[in-house]
Amino acid sequence: MKEEQMAQDAMSVICRRRSVRDFTDAGIDEHALEALVRAGMSAPTARNMQPWSFIVLTGRETLDRLSEGLPYGKMLATATAAIAVCALPEEANGQSVELAVVDATCASENILLAAEAFGLGAVWVAAYPYEDRMAHVRSILNIPDGVIPLNVIPLGHPKASKPPIDKYRPEKIHRESW
Ligand SMILES: Cc1cc2nc3c(=O)[nH]c(=O)nc-3n(C[C@H](O)[C@H](O)[C@H](O)COP(=O)(O)O)c2cc1C
Repeated sequence: MKEEQMAQDAMSVICRRRSVRDFTDAGIDEHALEALVRAGMSAPTARNMQPWSFIVLTGRETLDRLSEGLPYGKMLATATAAIAVCALPEEANGQSVELAVVDATCASENILLAAEAFGLGAVWVAAYPYEDRMAHVRSILNIPDGVIPLNVIPLGHPKASKPPIDKYRPEKIHRESW
């Protein structure tokens, strides 16, 4: 049945997704990059405010400079592209920083899942909430004050396939009450 197949395909993408930090030097198709941003923009947001911006990065020098100031983002130096996801509190419901960050997080997860669906590797590299990392990303990408650089997502073709991890834990589930 078509719906069953679609559900299986979606579950497979969700459950197979892993953080990928080793990339080949093959480039990423522009259409795939656009699709990843489209996936990001398809995420739910509080009151549908969509308080986000996406910076698509393909310049070797920019990726290298970003990697230098992100202690856990060294793989950016081998990524062939990246998307920096920004949260815009001024555009969020109630101009809330928290909601802007939550909304941009939903978008980020969609991008990670879409990357998996395209057979690409990706990983969330944190900028927020670390002041020094945000300042570094802000300065290299000319991000205005008031806009929060949430993360940078390096992208590339994975060097090796990573096995999925089953994180299902029945003890984390409560029914009706804790
Ligand atoms: C908020 C957040 C921040 C993260 N920051 C980094 C980071 O700076 N560098 C990195 O290599 N991975 C980072 N990760 C990825 C996690 O390390 C990874 O998701 C976790 O180890 C689980 O592995 P998996 O994604 O393969 O399931 C981050 C993930 C999240 C959600």
